[in-house]
Amino acid sequence: KRIVVLISGTGSNMLALQKACEEHKIAGRIVAVVSNKASAKGLEKAAAKGIDTDVLSHKSFASREAYDTELKTLIDSYQPDLVVLAGFMRILTGEFTRHYEGRMLNIHPSLLPKYKGINTHQRALDAGDEEHGVSVHFVTEELDGGPVVLQAKVPIFDGDSTDDLQARVHEQEHRIYPMVVNWFCQDRLKLEGGRATLEGQP
Ligand code: GRF
Repeated sequence: KRIVVLISGTGSNMLALQKACEEHKIAGRIVAVVSNKASAKGLEKAAAKGIDTDVLSHKSFASREAYDTELKTLIDSYQPDLVVLAGFMRILTGEFTRHYEGRMLNIHPSLLPKYKGINTHQRALDAGDEEHGVSVHFVTEELDGGPVVLQAKVPIFDGDSTDDLQARVHEQEHRIYPMVVNWFCQDRLKLEGGRATLEGQP
């Protein structure tokens, strides 16, 4: 299966996915990494792995629609089976999300439906939560609102900083995202009737 990964930053999830592909733990390969920011650290990491990279800056586009149309054209030039959002910090238009319905995944650092949007670690700490975590979900038009495929929980300890919590969550991200992407690549994971369904055992 052909995978296109979208990033805006560090790209540690992208690298975890690439590693899993190299180790044949994912039945697919990353054919391109696309960033909306030229400064995204993940771009160099992807290039070092021999992956095609592209930057499509949102700054030169007059509207979200215009940007997403161009982004769609760029992504589709790679003929992907799956589009993976891995720290892609853009709100996507309905037309874009509908185009990739059932073949676009996102990872969000909270136990959805809790804490959609940004600053999730800080919000979990501020709320005095005892646990936090990460969710992988199919992307739909509603921001961070698509059907959840898999979640992982982490404890919150007294005195945790956002960095502590983020590091703990990241470990889980790097574990569960490759699993879910592999399920998809094995044709076992589908979006059906607005729900995520998995064939066979996790
Ligand atoms: C992750 O925490 C992910 O859950 C969120 O953005 C962050 C990306 O981190 N959507 P990285 O760029 O993969 O290191």
